[in-house]
Amino acid sequence: MCGIVAYIGPKQAYPIIVKGLKRLEYRGYDSAGIALINDTLKIYKTKGKVSDLELTLEGKDIQGNIGMGHTRWATHGEPNDENAHPHLSQSGNLAVIHNGIIENYGTIKEELIKRGHTFESDTDTEVLIHLIEDIQLNENISIDEAVRLALNQVIGAYAIVILVKNEPAKLIAARKGSPLVVGLGREEGEFFLASDATPIVEYTRDVTYLNDGEIAFVKDGKLSIKTIENIAKTPFIQKLEINLEEIEKGGYPHFMIKEIFEQPKSIYDSIRGRIDSVQGKIAMRSIQEYEDKLRNVKRLILIGCGTSWHAALVGEYLFEEFARIPVEVEYASEFRYRNPIIYPDDLVIAISQSGETADTLAAIELAKEKGATVFGVCNVVGSSIPRMSHAGAYTHAGPEIGVASTKAFTAQVSVLTIMALAVAQIRGAISQERLRLVLSELEAIPQLVEEALKTNDHIMKLAAIFKDSRNFLYLGRGVNFPVALEGALKLKEISYIHAEGYPAAEMKHGPIALIDEDMPIVVIAPKRGMYEKVMSNIQEVKARKGKIIAIVTQGDTKIKEMADYVIEIPDTEEALTPLLSTIPLQLLSYHIAVLRGCNVDQPRNLAKSVTVE
Ligand code: G6P
Repeated sequence: MCGIVAYIGPKQAYPIIVKGLKRLEYRGYDSAGIALINDTLKIYKTKGKVSDLELTLEGKDIQGNIGMGHTRWATHGEPNDENAHPHLSQSGNLAVIHNGIIENYGTIKEELIKRGHTFESDTDTEVLIHLIEDIQLNENISIDEAVRLALNQVIGAYAIVILVKNEPAKLIAARKGSPLVVGLGREEGEFFLASDATPIVEYTRDVTYLNDGEIAFVKDGKLSIKTIENIAKTPFIQKLEINLEEIEKGGYPHFMIKEIFEQPKSIYDSIRGRIDSVQGKIAMRSIQEYEDKLRNVKRLILIGCGTSWHAALVGEYLFEEFARIPVEVEYASEFRYRNPIIYPDDLVIAISQSGETADTLAAIELAKEKGATVFGVCNVVGSSIPRMSHAGAYTHAGPEIGVASTKAFTAQVSVLTIMALAVAQIRGAISQERLRLVLSELEAIPQLVEEALKTNDHIMKLAAIFKDSRNFLYLGRGVNFPVALEGALKLKEISYIHAEGYPAAEMKHGPIALIDEDMPIVVIAPKRGMYEKVMSNIQEVKARKGKIIAIVTQGDTKIKEMADYVIEIPDTEEALTPLLSTIPLQLLSYHIAVLRGCNVDQPRNLAKSVTVE
């Protein structure tokens, strides 16, 4: 969602904020704005990207050692200059930037209008800053206290930063439901605030993550934290683990392609130290700590959103295949509002790249209330989901900046594979021999992904053939059905071509009606699994003149004869094929989107991390 960055210290704030906004732009990019204090409070904002903001600032006064910036993903109010953040209080003394939604802003706004307030935007954010000032002036209290009281009145989610015109050595920030990290600069009195660590990492490694319901005050070079209930907190300082190179493009034209090509490493990092195929051993702390629970667990519920939900679907197959435990997979957004039946001996596994997705967070809260144990499988260290979960495991994919998730997905699938095998071992559902075999195949996956990436040039040519197609169908069976869904999602989100993923055999119950000579159909058809069945599905398509692009195992001859085009991937254990079959689909969507002139890393209307409902 929206990106927030703020700075106070001895340096000029503007360059730090603009660079930070560019790093955060993957969170949202409808509009951008900045506030700086130097004698007076200056606000600059515009519809469009951070680069548009920079253009409007040419020749303007951008001096100041304190400031904040925002990149917006619109919720309340269309993207335009007025609705861009920062927003000002009625007197103009306070400015705020906000990520989240103030749900009761309508009633507060009505009340404030009756009290003489006027509003310039349609946003919930402007209402919040008016409310803070209204409380401060009416009750004649400090701004700090007014912020605290106002936050007790609002319902919803927020990460906010406030600047005060007549107190130019102060930043106030607060969080509930939307992430916010405070960086402690290397210089005396230097602090950074941001939605995630990417704008901070180049300046400091010492950070503290605000918890829900906490307010941070940076005043006269010192940081203090209290809760909205007015309880003082000692900041817990931790070291950032990401590196600058990880959040830069490193010579690639887009983050997405860089991240696709990073997968041999991100998968390797996600399995490294966790498996030993020679000994047939798995080391995953959460699994060891919860061994008794896992031995007796009756059911797993896997939850996530978007690509993470697709990883959950692969996880369903893996846990059922290896551990023989019944699994349910749920969209977090559906689960949270469904009054689901959850038993104390259920294990909920929440999967999320960002660890901040609002629906997934709410689903975890619900599962915990109902007594379930919750494991998190997340990529961002220190994010909310790992902190809320009882246990879990990180995927070590490194920062994923491209909005379309690629390396996070394969890292999730790798970690879920290890979890499923570990649980299978605990429950005696897998023989040591088979375990060792699957583990050794898993150890080989990074190398095989490297191999699969060699299809890139061939796929670029296919992309040129199909770039103008209006629809695509993706078909897969078994563990590759979720891969079909993921392939279709990748294509639609970055190239805006309509695409659907289907279990191959379901095609004849509807989508077959769409097939004609203009329809490309991507079929995932590795030789393991239901190869013969998939071949029949291909025949059904060919009979209707559809164009088949088949993902096949290297050396396949039968499908080659039937398909119009084939993309070869290396052979592996059936359960591990998604880690390879996904790769060409990511590349296909990437190249089609590039050829169509789409903004691959920042597709329209999407955001990397959805921290609102
Ligand atoms: C957004 C992103 C997707 C992502 C989904 C879930 O829609 O654009 O790429 O899969 O959120 O995010 P999470 O961080 O929970 O995996």
